[in-house]
Amino acid sequence: MKVAFTLNGAAATWTGPPVTRLAAALRDDLGLTGTKVGCDAGDCGACTVLLDGRQVCACLVAIGQVEGRSVETVEGLAGADGTLARLQKSFLAHGAAQCGICTPGMLMAAEELLRQVSRPSRGEIEDALGGVLCRCTGYTKIVDAVLATVEPPLMVAPSAGAAVGARLPRVDGYAKVTGRDVFGADGIPADALWIRVVRSPHARGRFTLGDLAPLRRRLAAVLTAADVPFNGFGIYPDIKDQPVLADGIVRYRGEAVLALVDERATVLSIRDDEVPIAWASEPPVIGIDAATAVDAPLVQADKPKNLLLDGGVRHGDAAAAFAGCAAVAEGVFETAFVEHAYH
Ligand code: FES
Ligand code: FES
Repeated sequence: MKVAFTLNGAAATWTGPPVTRLAAALRDDLGLTGTKVGCDAGDCGACTVLLDGRQVCACLVAIGQVEGRSVETVEGLAGADGTLARLQKSFLAHGAAQCGICTPGMLMAAEELLRQVSRPSRGEIEDALGGVLCRCTGYTKIVDAVLATVEPPLMVAPSAGAAVGARLPRVDGYAKVTGRDVFGADGIPADALWIRVVRSPHARGRFTLGDLAPLRRRLAAVLTAADVPFNGFGIYPDIKDQPVLADGIVRYRGEAVLALVDERATVLSIRDDEVPIAWASEPPVIGIDAATAVDAPLVQADKPKNLLLDGGVRHGDAAAAFAGCAAVAEGVFETAFVEHAYH
């Protein structure tokens, strides 16, 4: 399908499957890598662009949906001569771009707000940017930067010859606020092969691989768990309990099972029914109660009772301390597992 639309004010066309994500079309085919992809699932907002002037997650918009419409990305904010927009200058002046991966999305979300509300409040700015996650700044600098575009500057610009302690714009700040900074996924060599990962459709189950020879004849490589020398990764060196490629058992929906390697079009042309995997689905173990039940199957064979850690807290005479308290409140608290791995 040929899709015609306006991209940063100029006519653009794109040809391919209409269900292709707008983020992928922008980055992989149109060369606009300023739009970042963190989650590819609508969670992080790094891919925020403007569609007919409204912020959207480019990873959730099919390219077929932009036919005849206007798309604006971070590359369209600065002038043709490279002069930064006021909003970009403000991000630089306030140190609002740190690692910079969220910066294009933040800028586009703020741009939408500033076009609609000439003097937004701090609360309105926080709401407008609420769909874009930042793991570096704590958000304060970003909100300050947007506020400063409509209020008197909150900080003094650095002066030439300023001494130790003077505020300076970061040396790579221009690249970050224009979307030109090159992150890992932005610098793919033109002749690089692509990996298409085949993932589990089951939350828990076992699988066997059939004859991979026909696929191997068509592709540069088909990788399985047997091809990964140390098939485990995780945060701690002694708890590498997550296989790179599953080995006969899957523990969550979406776990990587096979890697197909070749030219992009070639790996994408492989149909699901051409990948010989026989699945045996099993009931998943979901939640603490199910995992700690006496008859719960083990999620990891080397973790009895499905416990990763047991103990580890030392305390004194808690009963005596409670007895001396004016009031005692009790509660059960749980935290989610967080892996700091988006970038
Ligand atoms: S990449 Fe689109 S929301 Fe995260
Ligand atoms: S600057 Fe926001 S994620 Fe790093």
